[in-house]
Amino acid sequence: MRESLKYPLAIFFLLLLVTLLFRINRPEKREPENTHNHIAPKEKTECIECLERDSKKRLKLLKSTRYLEKYIENVIKKGSTQKLGFAYGDMQGGFADSAAAPKIAAYVVSLAGRKPTHPEWIKEGRTFYVSNCGGCHGEDGKGINGTYPDLTRDPLLGIERRIEREIEAQASQ
Ligand code: HEC
Repeated sequence: MRESLKYPLAIFFLLLLVTLLFRINRPEKREPENTHNHIAPKEKTECIECLERDSKKRLKLLKSTRYLEKYIENVIKKGSTQKLGFAYGDMQGGFADSAAAPKIAAYVVSLAGRKPTHPEWIKEGRTFYVSNCGGCHGEDGKGINGTYPDLTRDPLLGIERRIEREIEAQASQ
């Protein structure tokens, strides 16, 4: 091959490779989203109410214990950046590992006087809660007024906002 062609050809193949890798790695290619599938393996926990089309049912879902559990699990995994008005600011995700999250959620749900889906997880959940969350939200879950939110209030602030938004949306229909 002529010496003068080697360099441009090498760049061309490199670009081709990069383009191909980029296309293969596109997230939407790997995992087609199916928003209408309620039992999709990777449920959109961030907005499970979005999957419910009937607004009355959506409101009921927002008030349900199942939703509360998913909300808490989601905050544990991804954190909370909802600007709920606490001096500490945002909560980061990952204070507990994702295997412990459903158990902690069972315990937190019980703090609000609700019966969790898996009451048998409350005890273990409490142990995880005390070591991973109690430092900020308090062992009793009541938080510190103005600094860390009270997790015993029902509904929790983030859920209360969603309920209010839903009621407003229904009223404007
Ligand atoms: C370093 C302090 C800190 C730790 C540790 C912490 N949180 Fe938080 N958490 C916060 C703050 C601050 C907020 C408010 C964030 C916002 O404004 O969105 C919050 C928000 C929340 C909310 C939403 C409250 C609401 O009213 O909607 C939940 C639920 C929650 N935390 C659960 C937990 C759980 C469970 C753990 C343990 C795995 C945990 N947090 C660990 C500081 C903390």
